Amino acid sequence: MAHLLIVDDETAIRELIAEIANDEGYTTALAGDIRQARIQIERQQPDVIVLDMHLPDGNGMEFWQSLDLPGTQVVFMTGHSSVDSAIEALRCGAADYLLKPVSLRRLRTTLDQLKSSAPAPAAGSDDAFAKMIGTSRGMQLLCTYIQKVAPTQATVLLVGESGTGKELAAEAIHLISPRHDKPFMPINCGAISPNLIESELFGHEKGSFTGADRQHKGYFERARGGTVFLDEITEMSMELQVRLLRVLESGRFMRVGTHEEIEADVRIVAATNRNPDEAVANGVLREDLYHRLSVFPLELPPLRERDGDVVLLAEHFLALLNEEHNTRKRFAPEAIEAVQAYSWPGNIRELRNYVYRSYILNDELIKSDANFFGLGEYAPSRDSDVMVAVGASLADANRQLILATLKQCGGVKKTAAKMLGISLKTLYNRLEEYGAVDDDAQEPSSIR
Ligand SMILES: Nc1ncnc2c1ncn2[C@@H]1O[C@H](COP(=O)(O)OP(=O)(O)OP(=O)(O)O)[C@@H](O)[C@H]1O
Ligand SMILES: [Mg+2]
Repeated sequence: MAHLLIVDDETAIRELIAEIANDEGYTTALAGDIRQARIQIERQQPDVIVLDMHLPDGNGMEFWQSLDLPGTQVVFMTGHSSVDSAIEALRCGAADYLLKPVSLRRLRTTLDQLKSSAPAPAAGSDDAFAKMIGTSRGMQLLCTYIQKVAPTQATVLLVGESGTGKELAAEAIHLISPRHDKPFMPINCGAISPNLIESELFGHEKGSFTGADRQHKGYFERARGGTVFLDEITEMSMELQVRLLRVLESGRFMRVGTHEEIEADVRIVAATNRNPDEAVANGVLREDLYHRLSVFPLELPPLRERDGDVVLLAEHFLALLNEEHNTRKRFAPEAIEAVQAYSWPGNIRELRNYVYRSYILNDELIKSDANFFGLGEYAPSRDSDVMVAVGASLADANRQLILATLKQCGGVKKTAAKMLGISLKTLYNRLEEYGAVDDDAQEPSSIR
């Protein structure tokens, strides 16, 4: 049974968390301050600590950093949220960061996840999530789903715009799956010549085609026991899609030039940056293959929909550069504001490149040097500006921008969605939230 230590100076909070934890199958110990927490840790090393950041006799985060408890995970709680403390929490490897009043549902989910990883953590699981930065709701959900689906054999289809982290997510699935000590084999279906892709995937026998002068093992064979990540699946020819479907259905494949069947002992994770329904409608993805691949579809939210993550990620990428080059560069407040205000159509990859450029261009203090505003195409034209006051919430800014764009497009949602760089489905969801959906006969009535 996993053991939980709850450290908070408010008795009511300790007891409430203990009740939930007991429900979730934890044994619990309670402490009102750091001194008591040390005593409890001496008695029994906890698998998980839920730790308030502000305690009567010190700072929870400093206390955690002073401990050396391999195998123990920490969840911080705070009544005073700030981007700085969230970043700090992530840096010291927190499994989660909860704001008070703590959402009981979120706490339950967190405890449930930590419990399943506590007694026998899957090797590499820390690494898997350590690379995935973000505390937004979308990111939390993504990690929850990854944790649930990873241990199964289910084929996962990752759908998300370019640069949203599909490959990182695929790798995380592999790393926390029972296949983690076998190969993870990423294959960019769009980057391999159509003539060679079948032999690249399934291998070939000597003499099976001109130039095949020896036997070749394909990705499926080399990944044996591991995970094959099929990226950009819509770039595969229709013919190959049929073949792949057959392999997925039979669990067997053949090297080109033989009839000998080999067991396909691989877990498949696939990805596309297109909307798969549209890809099917446009004839670049077979519907049967789509259904076979999307046993467990996962959508990666675009960066502009991950409230708060932009700053966390920017700080994270800057910290990596500082560490690598032994420097202490930091963002000026106006640079942070500019980063938050931008829509990041290229998502995390674009942000990472931006931070790198800013790092090179600036000395100690990284100012808002507008190096990404030079892109021009994203700068709104004078007569269609949306004024957003500094300090307005991101949600409010999003709302204004979406409604203004829709107006400028004469109410045509498809055009507006394209201009905003979001899917039609996302636009509909937003409009529904704002109570701004009308009955437009020209639009489809249901969108998946
Ligand atoms: N949550 C995250 N935290 C930190 N870094 C991330 C995160 N998600 C993605 N990245 C980084 O952003 C970059 C782009 O991610 P990735 O290559 O996984 O995107 P992708 O969705 O596969 O993009 P594409 O469709 O263009 O292939 C990588 O450098 C990756 O390490
Ligand atoms: Mg990719």
